[in-house]
Parts: sequence; structure tokens; C-alpha cells
Amino acid sequence: ARKQMKWVDHEELSKHNTQDDCWIHIFGQVYDVTSYLEFHPGGIPELMRASGRDGTALFNQYHAWVNYENMLKSCFVGHFKGDLTKLK
Ligand code: HEM
Repeated sequence: ARKQMKWVDHEELSKHNTQDDCWIHIFGQVYDVTSYLEFHPGGIPELMRASGRDGTALFNQYHAWVNYENMLKSCFVGHFKGDLTKLK
């Protein structure tokens, strides 16, 4: 059966902002990167800067070329429900 589509709004996203429970929004997609944190080549503190919020700008600033969609497939939580024209 097809997995049901999940939508994550800003309020829910912002609750997952700790090292034990870290969600990040990148370009309309929300990922639970808790298990990825320790493997991030840029380090945990850098990745934590984007925890519980929109990390698109930071992500693009450091490595727009990184294929996050492929890397974080198993970490996918759902789609961000909000205004993507306000990404920052
Ligand atoms: C490096 C993945 C988010 C900061 C890297 C590299 C990967 C990666 C694969 C190595 C890139 C390379 O050497 O070409 C990811 C993924 C992210 C993410 C999958 C999404 C969750 C972020 C965020 C920041 C950040 C939000 C900043 C706040 C950095 C920095 C490096 C780095 C500074 C460079 C480390 C160095 O070369 O010294 N990341 N990253 N990353 N990342 Fe991320």
C-alpha cells in the first residue's frame, strides 16, 4: 500500500529542534536527521543551526551540489506545509 502523504507545518517542525530529535526543512521537504547528525561531514553544530527550521539557505550557502534527497531518503518525514516563497 502507498504510504500516506504527511504534511508538516512550521509549528510542528519547530518542536523538533534538539540533538535527540532533529528535523530540518529543505526545499519543501522535511527530514528527521537525528541519526544523520553524527555523520554530517560539516559537523553536528553546523547541522544543528538548521534544526527545527528551514535550512534551505544554509544548505545552499555551503553545498548546493550535495544530493540531500538521495542521502536522506530514509529520513524523509513529509512535505512542508507553508509558504515556500518565504524560504529564507
Ligand atoms: C559538508 C551533507 C546541511 C554545513 C557537508 C558534506 C555533505 C553534507 C555530504 C560534504 C560535502 C563536500 O565535501 O562536498 C549535508 C546534508 C544536509 C546538510 C545532507 C542536510 C540535512 C547542512 C547545513 C549546514 C551545513 C544546514 C550549515 C548550517 C556544512 C559545512 C560543510 C558541510 C560547513 C563543510 C565541511 C568542510 O568541508 O569542512 N554536508 N549537509 N550542512 N556541511 Fe552539510
